[in-house]
Amino acid sequence: MVCLGNICRSPLAEGILRSKTFLKGVEVDSVGTANYHVGNRPDKRSIGVAAKNNIDISSLRGRQFSVQDFDDFDLIYVMDNSNFKDINTLARNEEDKQKVFLILNEIFPGENLDVPDPYFGGAHGFETVYKMLDQACDAIVEKIS
Ligand code: 4NP
Repeated sequence: MVCLGNICRSPLAEGILRSKTFLKGVEVDSVGTANYHVGNRPDKRSIGVAAKNNIDISSLRGRQFSVQDFDDFDLIYVMDNSNFKDINTLARNEEDKQKVFLILNEIFPGENLDVPDPYFGGAHGFETVYKMLDQACDAIVEKIS
C-alpha cells in the first residue's frame, strides 16, 4: 500500500487489509513515496478512525518505498495518480510496472480515481477515506482469495 507520506492513507489501507487477511498468510505492508515521515507513527486521525473500526494501526511506522519492494511484493496498490507516476518512474522493467495498481480501480474499474489526501482537511476526510479503502480492500480480498 503506497501513498505520499505513509502516515494517513496507506497505513489505514494496510490495517484494513491486514484485518481482512490476517488468517490467510498474506503479507501486507505500507510505504510512502516521500521520506518526510520515515520512522513516524500514523497520523492521529488515521489511528482514530481505524480504532473506531476496531483496527489498531498505532504500532506502524513510516517507511519509504524502495526498489526492493518490487521484488518483495506481488501487488503494489497506490492511492493516487501522483503515487502511480512516482512508482512507475522507479520501475526497472515491464514486470515491475505490471504490479502497480490504483487501489480505487478495484471498485471503479478503469476510472483511475484518487483516494483524496486527507492530511490538510478535517476528521470527515478520514472517515471518507476509511470507507473507500474498506470497500477496495474487500475487492482485493475477493481477488486474491
Ligand atoms: P498521506 O498524506 O500521503 O496519505 O500519508 C500525507 C501526509 C503528509 C504529507 C502529505 C500527505 N506531508 O506533506 O507531510
